[in-house]
Amino acid sequence: MCLCSQRSDPTQDAGMSAVRTEDAADGRSTANGGGVVCDERGVTVLRPTDLSEMLAAGTKEVHEKAENTEFVKDFLKGRIRKELFKLGHVALFFTYSALEEQMERNKEHPHLAALYFPHELHRRDALARDLRYFYGEGWQNQISISPATQRYVERIRQIGRDQPALLVAHAYTRYMGDLSGGQVLRKVAQRAMKLPPTGEGLNFYQFDSIHSAKAFKQLYRSRMNELELNALTKQKIVEEAVLAFQFNMEIFGELEEAGKTLQDDVLDAAPVHGEMQGDISQCPYYTTKMAASDGSSYICQMAMIVLKNPSGQVLLAAWIAALAGLAAWYLMGPAVTQ
Ligand code: HEM
Repeated sequence: MCLCSQRSDPTQDAGMSAVRTEDAADGRSTANGGGVVCDERGVTVLRPTDLSEMLAAGTKEVHEKAENTEFVKDFLKGRIRKELFKLGHVALFFTYSALEEQMERNKEHPHLAALYFPHELHRRDALARDLRYFYGEGWQNQISISPATQRYVERIRQIGRDQPALLVAHAYTRYMGDLSGGQVLRKVAQRAMKLPPTGEGLNFYQFDSIHSAKAFKQLYRSRMNELELNALTKQKIVEEAVLAFQFNMEIFGELEEAGKTLQDDVLDAAPVHGEMQGDISQCPYYTTKMAASDGSSYICQMAMIVLKNPSGQVLLAAWIAALAGLAAWYLMGPAVTQ
C-alpha cells in the first residue's frame, strides 16, 4: 500500500499525502487497489471521477449562491447582530445534533466508517457550550427549532435511516465548509460582537484536535475518494450536497427575515481585517467578498475609521490645509507674475 492511502492517526495521515489534480493518464500514476491513485512519489492524483472532485465541481454554483446571500455577506462585513447570531447557532445546534446522531448510528456502515471523526469534527458539544454562554444555564428551554431547520433535520434523519451513503454529502457540506472559513468567521464574529478573545460563544469555530485544517481537508478528500461507490451513488451524493447547500440557504433566508423584525442591534461594522495580523490579501474570504462588492462601502468604512480616530482627524486637517495652500498658490500664481 502506498503512503498516500495509509490510514492511521488522521493528523499524521493528513500530513503524509500531498494532493494535486491531474489527468491520471499521464503514465506516472499507479493505482493502489483502493481507488486512490498515487504517483511514484506517493502524491495523490485526483481525477474528475473522484468523489471529492465531483463534489467540488457539482456544488460550485450553489456555493457561489450561498456566498452571496445577504446574511452571509453582512456577516463577512462584520455586520453581525447578536440576536441573529444566536438564532444561527440554534439552527446549527439542531442540524449538527441530527447529523452527528445519524453518523453515530451508521458509523460501521462501509460508506461512512472512513469519514467517522467524532473527536476531530463533531460540533454538537461545542455548540451546546456556546448556547449556554449566550442563553445561560436553562438554554435548552429557551431555544426552539425553526421551520427551515426542521426540514433540514428531517432530511438528514430520513437518509440516515434509508440511504446512509448520502450522509456523506451532508458531512462534506458542513464540515469541509467549517474547516474552510472557520477561523476568519470566528475573528469577524468575535470583533463585531465584542466577545471575549478567550473564545466563549465561539467554540463552534474552534477545532481543537485539528492542527492543520488544510491537511485535514486533504485527508478527508482522500477518504471520500477511497469509498467504494458506483457512479450512480456518487452522482446521488453530489445531488444531495446541492440539497444540503439549499437547506443552509433556506436557514439564511429565515435569519434575514427574522432580522427585519428585530431591534437594530448592529454592532460596530468596522472591518476586522485591518487589525488582524498577517497579509490581508491572503484571506480568501476577504478577497472574494471585496471583489464581489462594489468596494464603495469599504471605502466609506475606511473613511469613517480615519474620522473617528483623533490622529486621523489631525492628519486629515493637515492634508486639507496643505491642499488649500496649494490651490491658493496655483490660483494666485499668474497674478503675482503679471
Ligand atoms: C461568504 C461565504 C463563503 C465564502 C467566501 C466561502 C469560501 C470558501 C473557500 C475559499 C473555499 C475553498 C477552501 C479550500 O480550497 O481549502 C470554500 C470551501 C468550501 N465551502 Fe465555502 N465559503 C462560503 C460559504 C459557505 C457555505 C454557506 C457553505 C455551506 C453551508 C460552504 C461550504 C463549503 C464547502 C463544502 C467547501 C469545500 C469545497 C471543496 O474543497 O470541495 N461555504 N469556501
